Amino acid sequence: MGNKLKPVTTGARMDSRRQLLRFMLQSPLITSGASLASLWPAVGMARPELAVPDAVNRTLDVFQMKAAARKKLDMRAWHFIVNGADDGKTMTANRQVFDDWQIRVRRLIDISQVDQSVEVLGESLHSPIILAPIGSQQLIHETGEIGTARGAGRHLMICSTASSFSIEDIAAQATGPLWFQLYASKHRPFMKALLDNAEQAGCRTLVLTIDAPTIGNREAERWFRTAGNGKGPRLSMGNFDNYAGKKNIGDPSMTWEIVDWLRANTSMKIVLKGIVTREDARLCRRYGVDGIIVSNHGGRQEESNRATLDCLTEVIDGVDNEIEVLIDGGFRRGTDIFKALGLGARAVCIGRPQVWGLGAFGEKGVSRVLSLLRAELVRIMKFAGVTRVADIGGEYLQRGD
Ligand SMILES: Cc1cc2nc3c(=O)[nH]c(=O)nc-3n(C[C@H](O)[C@H](O)[C@H](O)COP(=O)(O)O)c2cc1C
Repeated sequence: MGNKLKPVTTGARMDSRRQLLRFMLQSPLITSGASLASLWPAVGMARPELAVPDAVNRTLDVFQMKAAARKKLDMRAWHFIVNGADDGKTMTANRQVFDDWQIRVRRLIDISQVDQSVEVLGESLHSPIILAPIGSQQLIHETGEIGTARGAGRHLMICSTASSFSIEDIAAQATGPLWFQLYASKHRPFMKALLDNAEQAGCRTLVLTIDAPTIGNREAERWFRTAGNGKGPRLSMGNFDNYAGKKNIGDPSMTWEIVDWLRANTSMKIVLKGIVTREDARLCRRYGVDGIIVSNHGGRQEESNRATLDCLTEVIDGVDNEIEVLIDGGFRRGTDIFKALGLGARAVCIGRPQVWGLGAFGEKGVSRVLSLLRAELVRIMKFAGVTRVADIGGEYLQRGD
């Protein structure tokens, strides 16, 4: 008998893998973070306190950026960002759903050139990653939306009605395309002024947020905003400052009629943010909406327990290829983005990670978040053997049991 090597039993292989992981995790060379820390239970060790990166380029993923922001922000700013409504079940569902999907990778494909560019509502974007609208960013960092616009580089940024700085001021600093997000107001002359300002600032698309007929129950946010006494300082809102007439945010009487009104009052394309059902997707067709963002406001509004990724398929079904569909909610990894693109989303918007970056390291943090996500998306595209964003289709996905 020749001197054959014995096959390694699974048990022996697991033991040596565990030993290696234990060794790696104990090594001072490794900067631990939320993601690395998830390995500790896998090797039977208690999870340690997370080491928080102290320099922007040491952040390895958006979870570490979150940890860095936690260290810098006061309780009011922190709870403004991280809260979900009620018990946070919808916010959690947005993340958990990604585990329901597996990626089917192909082999032996030339992936030496990967193209992340994508066409969205007639605009050529260099990446399918878009910054979702987030209001009051000066609460998070003194540079507010100006810092975010600088950090966004060439990425598309959607600017909130409730931004600390006006759309004109943000546009003056931005190097990438901007869209304007509108919260409806009972005062239509004020809405008209907002639309005109956005158009003048160069926005070609308007995003009407429709998931705020009332305000979500974000208890910790309320508590820290008012220190429990029901009062809090007024936040600056740049889009309101130069308008002398009656102005406010919120119109509980808003119906589909608003789409006709917008059409008559702006030449911007119209996107509805907050569609989550097939029925409403069909109504978008009937009212001639140009685009949809499948969104539940990051689980900050209704506690529906429905993940946006679970809503995506029925919305796409409802639009019957007539309307472009984007999505947001819980996107933290390139693989998450890949899955949504595979299920038919044209692009993906990210909310909280951009303000973790802003809160932790200002504009450099925003830029780092985007480059981390871009790199992760490129990596999974290479592994899957797909070289163009437009080619990421359902054949790369499989629903797990
Ligand atoms: C702090 C904060 C402020 C937000 N402000 C707005 C806003 O002004 N307008 C809006 O349409 N959506 C707003 N959103 C919702 C985001 O645009 C987006 O839908 C959501 O954050 C996506 O989920 P994610 O944070 O899990 O990525 C806000 C979200 C957060 C976390």
